[in-house]
Amino acid sequence: MSNPSHRVIIDCDPGHDDMAAILLAAWHDSIQVEAITTVCGNASLDNTTNNALRIVAAFGLDIPVYRGAVQPLLHRYEFPAAFHGPSGLDSVGVDLPQTDRQAEKGHAVDAIIRIVDANPGEITVVVIGPMTNLALVLALRPDLATKIKQIVFMGGSAGEGNVTPAAEFNIWADAEAARIVFRSGVKLVMFGLNATHQTLLRRQDVAAVRAARPDANVVADIMDFYCGTYYRFAGADKPGAPLHDPCTIAYLIDPSLFAMAQLPGDVIVGDAETYGQTLIDLRPQDPAHDQRVKNVGVAMQADAPRFAALVTEALIWATGRISA
Ligand code: BDR
Ligand code: CA
Repeated sequence: MSNPSHRVIIDCDPGHDDMAAILLAAWHDSIQVEAITTVCGNASLDNTTNNALRIVAAFGLDIPVYRGAVQPLLHRYEFPAAFHGPSGLDSVGVDLPQTDRQAEKGHAVDAIIRIVDANPGEITVVVIGPMTNLALVLALRPDLATKIKQIVFMGGSAGEGNVTPAAEFNIWADAEAARIVFRSGVKLVMFGLNATHQTLLRRQDVAAVRAARPDANVVADIMDFYCGTYYRFAGADKPGAPLHDPCTIAYLIDPSLFAMAQLPGDVIVGDAETYGQTLIDLRPQDPAHDQRVKNVGVAMQADAPRFAALVTEALIWATGRISA
């Protein structure tokens, strides 16, 4: 690759929209993916790691995959099979082929530490699953808070929740880990539901992906499963399904896709019904007297049509990477 603008580690729990994020990153010249690290979240760690390996193998991506945390720090929950299927990456038709490809030796947490240590100030960690691995990194090595370039993550919300009225799934799945990350001092860039609910993969986008390969089309089949789940949950009248995780990569490719605000943010833990809520302080204040620590760059608005066009182009590219 010639001079990428961003060197990233993708920490993920694939996951349909995780797959779209990985493909978007693999497709675009400005992104170099140094490693994929896995975490339990949408499904068990065995499943999310297997899915990550199947993605890199099926699409011919030369990216090492490392297994991460088996369970959250404290929270215990049933994996949400209703959303991504029992495998974590179900399809309405063709599945990604199984693969002999293996995860790299060594733990994801050690891999992140090693890669950041070797490249201080260079590595963006893109977190699109629960934050367990990053919390462990920062617990083992708090000094890395100044060596990680930034953490760009999908999680939380400056508005509505999804898994509960207050909380978004990735943060809720391991709220203690998320609180560690929010309070770490690392530069944080957040794509929460308030923004990702604007970024639809529209029905015509999936149709365009399918049309690019009218025979067996695993990319369209996987995206149709994801959209179908959303339509069953949110209503069949919807024009598309929110594509959460690729927002992170789209922002790195083209920050003008999003309007951002630098704000104070924290994560609610404990026994309250608001467990896992991201508390983003949206109160307007006179800058001359504002003493608050604004620790999170928060996506507030998305350019939805341009986002959809970008992701669709990457997914069409991906259909051509699968051998028949
Ligand atoms: C997040 O939860 C998962 O289901 C998706 O992959 C995304 O990371 C959305 O709340
Ligand atoms: Ca995810």
